[in-house]
Amino acid sequence: MSAASTDSTALRVLVVGCGNIAGGFDLGRPPGYLPYTHAGAYTRDGRFDLLACVEPDDKRRSKFMAVWDVSAGFRSIEEALDSGNQFDVVSICSPTDCHAHDLETALRMKPKLIFCEKPLTTSAAETQRLVAECAQLKIPLAVNYTRRWDAEVLKLQADMQGGRWGTLRSAVGYYNKGIANNGSHMLDLLHLLVGPMEIVKVGNPSDDFFANDPTLPVWLEGPQGVLVQLACGHAGDYAIFELQLVFSQGTLTMEEGGLFWRERRAVDSETFKGYRTLDAGVRRAGQYPGAMLNAVDNIYHAIKQGDPLASTGESALAAQCVCEQIKQNARQYL
Ligand SMILES: NC(=O)c1ccc[n+]([C@@H]2O[C@H](COP(=O)([O-])OP(=O)(O)OC[C@H]3O[C@@H](n4cnc5c(N)ncnc54)[C@H](O)[C@@H]3O)[C@@H](O)[C@H]2O)c1
Repeated sequence: MSAASTDSTALRVLVVGCGNIAGGFDLGRPPGYLPYTHAGAYTRDGRFDLLACVEPDDKRRSKFMAVWDVSAGFRSIEEALDSGNQFDVVSICSPTDCHAHDLETALRMKPKLIFCEKPLTTSAAETQRLVAECAQLKIPLAVNYTRRWDAEVLKLQADMQGGRWGTLRSAVGYYNKGIANNGSHMLDLLHLLVGPMEIVKVGNPSDDFFANDPTLPVWLEGPQGVLVQLACGHAGDYAIFELQLVFSQGTLTMEEGGLFWRERRAVDSETFKGYRTLDAGVRRAGQYPGAMLNAVDNIYHAIKQGDPLASTGESALAAQCVCEQIKQNARQYL
């Protein structure tokens, strides 16, 4: 796994929290895989030096250091701060309820950029405060709403803006495992593709995974009153993250989180003369597996030449604000 850069211009990285998204999801994957994790993406990119990590669990920290060739390990982010090491990038991959503290401490290290996992914090007010602090200190903040770096999603965004599917009639996002956890991914994706949305109605919540983060159905309205719905699965059954878009010229469905896409086009019916219907369609591989590599490439160019980030504190805050309003609307059921 280890391919730490020996280039002295490499960007020095501190990873905070050494669990699944930090590196674990990439363990045991086949050779040549496209990375899904922070450590996997930095290593594969080659222009980063995984200098240090923070992890309170001794076993996990040692394993992470060995697998990813990390030279320094700390039990807490304070230890990393006190070490006096200079980091260009701090990747925050700790549990969500640690993010606010870790972001504050990371800012004191004055890195060139912070890459934080989603959701940014546990409350929109806290997120707003920290996003403003990053802006004030001029430290760019990237947030891992990964699909903002998925080339397939960006092509779809351009196609929709160019009217290549006709008019959007409705969108249904299927998700489970919590409105803030996975629901915020869906709302962020809908913000990107559809635009700002108003909540019309919130349905009955179910606690399918995390305490304090229910999964619940929502009816929203996008620009020009377009219907948007969030529909639920149960996390105990299987993971679901799919988005179906109904256009005037056909339907497009993102399946398995973007690993696959299914396209069906409107055609003349062979059965009912004079009617239009949808064809059987095609299912093809998507480009989600390349998204983490695109993210670190964006981070590299944001630092080296000031490129804009595709997923920012501001866009993450917008998704979190809708999540919070949805939870407030759900109080009627409690
Ligand atoms: N973008 C995505 O698609 C995606 C996917 C998975 C997880 N996540 C997010 O990543 C974050 C971590 O999730 P995960 O699944 O990797 O969790 P995890 O439990 O696998 O890993 C978290 C790690 O952080 C460590 N930790 C605990 N307290 C810490 C502290 N104070 N400082 C540093 N490390 C600490 C834990 O020991 C653990 O090793 C969460 O915010 C989650 O929402 C995002």
